[in-house]
Amino acid sequence: MNKESIFENLTPKIFEIINSKEPISVILANISHTLHNSIDYYDWVGFYLMENGKLKLGPYVGAATDHTTIEVGQGICGQAADSKTTFIVDDVTKEDNYLSCSINVKSEIVVPVFKGEMVFGEIDIDSHTPSAFDKYDKVFLEWLAKALSTIL
Ligand code: SME
Repeated sequence: MNKESIFENLTPKIFEIINSKEPISVILANISHTLHNSIDYYDWVGFYLMENGKLKLGPYVGAATDHTTIEVGQGICGQAADSKTTFIVDDVTKEDNYLSCSINVKSEIVVPVFKGEMVFGEIDIDSHTPSAFDKYDKVFLEWLAKALSTIL
């Protein structure tokens, strides 16, 4: 299946999770599991949530990480929060401002989730495949982030 079809199939599933009226922590965990189980190159899927001006690790699926608190501006996650834009990194070894979770990770995408104008948190996805993320991932994950914003 190509990426477009994968994301097309996932859209109603994600929509259902977001509108399930479960607590937000359950919704974020269910999204993480669904993305991780459905897309083979999504090796680590999780959320960081803004708390007192710092990004705190929220629900995730994948290897445990040391980076449970990230300052704004620090690493890919901190830069995405700072600039309020999506970051795609094709080759994490070429990044100076990067926080490594595992040496297996080769590429990463981080998408901010907004509550109004403010950054509520971020979707963070790591892949063991180099250059795993492209415009299809970006469009889908930005849609997901926007859909999440409607229930925040
Ligand atoms: N690589 C991220 C840190 C979070 S881990 O990927 C789970 C970064 O540079 O911000």
